[in-house]
Amino acid sequence: MRRLRRSESLRALVRETSIEPGDLIYPLFICPGEGVRREIGSMPGVFNVSVDEAVRQAEVAASLGVGGLLLFGLPESKDERGSGAWAEDGIVQQGLRALKQSSASQKLVLIGDVCLCEYTSHGHCGLIAKNGEEWTVQNDPTLELLGKTAVSQARAGADVVAPSDMMDGRVAAIRGALDEAGCVDTPILSYASKFASAFYGPFREAADSAPQFGDRRSYQMDGANLREAMREIDLDLAEGADMILMKPAMPYLDVVHAARQRVGVPMGAYQVSGEYSMLQAAFARGWLDRDRAILESLLGMRRAGADFIVTYFALEAARLLG
Ligand code: PBG
Repeated sequence: MRRLRRSESLRALVRETSIEPGDLIYPLFICPGEGVRREIGSMPGVFNVSVDEAVRQAEVAASLGVGGLLLFGLPESKDERGSGAWAEDGIVQQGLRALKQSSASQKLVLIGDVCLCEYTSHGHCGLIAKNGEEWTVQNDPTLELLGKTAVSQARAGADVVAPSDMMDGRVAAIRGALDEAGCVDTPILSYASKFASAFYGPFREAADSAPQFGDRRSYQMDGANLREAMREIDLDLAEGADMILMKPAMPYLDVVHAARQRVGVPMGAYQVSGEYSMLQAAFARGWLDRDRAILESLLGMRRAGADFIVTYFALEAARLLG
């Protein structure tokens, strides 16, 4: 075996998997204000940015050849129904309009995250109601709001909408709402298999979206279940998903691989906040070689079968690859 490992040129010739900047999607957390660039404590190098700063970040991403942006919003205020998610002048909608007018948007796919948790006062991804003594997240009443959110993002300039809420039937509801609004060309990237994960911890600081009571285990998947993940994927595709996203990535690479064997649609993996933060924590202590660890973590996701990767390392990895 070692004959083909003798030189970098030989290794390059026989290399089976590659990563390119265009495979990477960079998440942005857009917040109110102007000139705001506020670093997230648990995610060094990641910022809450105001719309003007988001445009500057987009220009950097475009110049590095990054494939796209995934937009999250921190609204001015929150309410029970998460109305900031579908507001005409909502924070993500403002960001989309500004980005659409910038030259960067010609090179970047703009993806809107469709969910309510950043906009609800209780931090859950759907509407809540009291069932006896217990608060529950209501499935069907949430669907209409997700549809409205997707339509408002598409109208504001989203090239793709990406529902991450994990309500049942949301893909069909969103497809129906988009079609009815005339947004027939807007594709849906569904977070088809999204596990209830400890690795979302830092994101909830970044997006200020931690649930105020309980947890997300009644709607996000149980981490033990691979077969169930395949059912989620089948259902989302049957409902009209154009692409699927798998999340988290590193602790679930077997699920990514199984999905790749099963379906032919374009598929992404999401290297989530906790995956990013634990690598950053190791880099800060000098325990891992930063550049190599970043690329190796992404290569593993590509090898498992992901076509593209959502990662907070997108800009840095694109620089390394360029
Ligand atoms: C919203 C959403 C979350 C993430 C993406 N979309 C948080 C959650 O489900 O609690 C997590 C992303 C990350 O950790 O980087 N529902």
